[in-house]
Amino acid sequence: MEPIAPMTPDSIARAAALLRSGELVAFPTETVYGLGADATNDTAVARIFDAKNRPSFNPLIAHVADTDEAATYAVFTPLAERMAARFWPGPLTLVLSRRPDCGLSRLTSAGLDTVAMRVPAHAGARELLRIAGIPVAAPSANRSGLLSPTTAKHVAEQLGDRVAMILDDGPCAVGLESTVLDLSGRTPAILRQGGLAQEEIENALGEPVLVAGADDTTPKSPGMLTRHYAPTRPLRMNASAADPGEALLGFGSVADTTMNLSPAGDLVEAAANLFACLHALDTPEYSGIAVSPIPETGLGRAINDRLRRAAESTEQL
Ligand code: TXA
Ligand code: MG
Repeated sequence: MEPIAPMTPDSIARAAALLRSGELVAFPTETVYGLGADATNDTAVARIFDAKNRPSFNPLIAHVADTDEAATYAVFTPLAERMAARFWPGPLTLVLSRRPDCGLSRLTSAGLDTVAMRVPAHAGARELLRIAGIPVAAPSANRSGLLSPTTAKHVAEQLGDRVAMILDDGPCAVGLESTVLDLSGRTPAILRQGGLAQEEIENALGEPVLVAGADDTTPKSPGMLTRHYAPTRPLRMNASAADPGEALLGFGSVADTTMNLSPAGDLVEAAANLFACLHALDTPEYSGIAVSPIPETGLGRAINDRLRRAAESTEQL
């Protein structure tokens, strides 16, 4: 089946239903085409990483129809309210603190206590978000390492066999990803330059803005600008059993597990459960978290990448 559909009220309604049922839908925004999934559905979000063939879990942007909806998932400080009022809808993504029990998948935030929110300016995209009535996690709709798509044809070439539907509304007006502004810390910081100019943000802030990585002599990759989630307790990979006091996070048919990422050994299911399990096991009840071996294939690579970072960052404790 040719999954490209011109964006009409009818195709938008079908796309909204597909998103609500956990399917992947590619859709245009004013910046680039996004690969969308229900941001509250762990499995749907895991499918995004699987389809993109990403070797790591980066946190994703949750797209919503308006600021009121965004405020049900994220904490808006007065400054965040001001920036949203000025630049939304538009090519600005705000990194904000997650509301506790906001219902967003932990995988959407890659385990962090923050979430990136954006209200796109594209009329069809906002209509889709409004009708779907759910936050939509959407990275750019390209395979990992390839260029961000600005037409439906680009998406079809890279992901045509991986999505339920591609909504087509012609080339993107901006053609650059959104600017990512982190308002979750003490000082606002641009984490990624994009479709909204730094000068516009500085005008609104009334002062110069910090640009993450800009003061360093060595260039950093965009991924390195992102903080990574790690449990506070020591984490041990490739464990065959738990040591006394440890929790055992299993994968596949492993005995005596405290929790199991996927008893069936399904890597998409394991990715969907990863951050929720780590959070659940990171309690004083356990001295550490032992994790069963995860195969280094498909989404297993991204899972192991994240576990390795967590193991390294807890080694010094
Ligand atoms: O224009 C865009 O932003 C497009 C369209 C589809 O909206 N989306 C997009 O998503 O570019 P993605 O996943 O390719 O990029 C998201 C960026 C990454 O640089 C990621 O590190 C950052 O936002 N990000 C997301 N959540 C974050 C968080 N909680 N903390 C820090 N950075 C975050
Ligand atoms: Mg991208």
